[in-house]
Amino acid sequence: MSQREFQHVLLTGGCGFIGTNFVRFFLEQRPDARLTNLDALTYSGNAESLRDLEDEPRYRFVHGNIRDRPTVDALVRECDAVVHMAAESHVDRSIQDASPFISTNIGGTQTILDGVRQAKGDGHDVRMCYVSTDEVYGQLPLDRPDLLFREDTPLAPSSPYAASKAAGDMLCAAYHHTFALDIVTTRCSNNFGPYQFPEKVIPLFVTNLIEGEPVPLYGDGRNVRDWLHVLDHCEAVLRVLEGGASGEVYNVGGNNERSNLELTHEILRCMDQGEEMIRPVADRLGHDLRYAIDAGKIERELGWEPTRSAWPGALEATIDWYRENDQWWRRVKSGAYREYYRSQYGRTK
Ligand code: NAD
Ligand code: TYD
Repeated sequence: MSQREFQHVLLTGGCGFIGTNFVRFFLEQRPDARLTNLDALTYSGNAESLRDLEDEPRYRFVHGNIRDRPTVDALVRECDAVVHMAAESHVDRSIQDASPFISTNIGGTQTILDGVRQAKGDGHDVRMCYVSTDEVYGQLPLDRPDLLFREDTPLAPSSPYAASKAAGDMLCAAYHHTFALDIVTTRCSNNFGPYQFPEKVIPLFVTNLIEGEPVPLYGDGRNVRDWLHVLDHCEAVLRVLEGGASGEVYNVGGNNERSNLELTHEILRCMDQGEEMIRPVADRLGHDLRYAIDAGKIERELGWEPTRSAWPGALEATIDWYRENDQWWRRVKSGAYREYYRSQYGRTK
């Protein structure tokens, strides 16, 4: 399909980590387009992150749930594209309780798809981009660095989170096949950058260290993740939305694999802290060993490549952001967060 720009994009989950970055990125990159952000403001959604856009005429925030069919139907009709990234997103929480993951990531995705289907039936075609994850592929072994996830790697999710995202992914494929909906999908590796909720490993470790607290490293720290700067991900989503072929999936990755132990040492080094700040804790149940992405397809077909993800620079800049925006995460880390921390790590701090 040829490149096209959309006039009015409906974004779901725009008050979360990637969403907040996407709103800013999109409004900057597409100065003539409008964006509506539908977000339920769950524990990980933060309206404060976009407060400065309140008077921006091209931006609108709608406080609502993606499972609310009338709201979704009405918003889909106003737009010519949907970027669907609202989700329950934290693996550890899905291990504690899978219910909200099933409801939002599967039921919510169905509601969006039905909204797009209904609009198409009424003659209003809407393109949809589903923001999936590399975790739908399951895990790679540690002793085969030659293996990478490709778009045709079978889906084999291993956490309740990944299974719920894979179900959403497959629903998108089914609605494309059955109803000829115009859908594209991205499967991205681990993101880092500003506005990430401090339950994910990088902002958790950085903010703990700023507070003088140790960092809880799961198991032996050998598990490997591929790290991509969130703005490189936002750029990939926009490329896929505007230029991806209908029904296709695009892997997105940073070619930036680190074990959790390497990541932890890198953060400690950047923050002038020593090994004594590492607190080994019990391993995550079913902890996936390694994620690694072959992003050749999006590079070849859509000319995307990561330009903001190189370490140590991008990691240092991210750490600086958390240093300079402590009021943002200190508010987040109060209240219900403390209860979660106690249940996950066995103490309040
Ligand atoms: P996040 O948890 O920071 O944000 C999720 C947002 O969705 C929040 O603003 C929340 O309020 C909203 N939301 C949750 N349930 C909702 C509902 N029922 N209705 C409306 N809004 C709801 O997550 P994130 O890290 O920004 O991830 C965004 C998307 O990207 C997710 O779909 C995730 O699976 C995917 N993804 C994330 C990563 C990563 O490293 N963070 C990597 C690949 C893919
Ligand atoms: P996380 O940021 O939760 O992302 P994901 O599970 O989606 O990859 O975790 C990244 C890695 O860091 C993962 O291998 C688990 C590990 N980890 C820890 O060692 N300690 C922690 O407290 C957390 C939250 C994660």
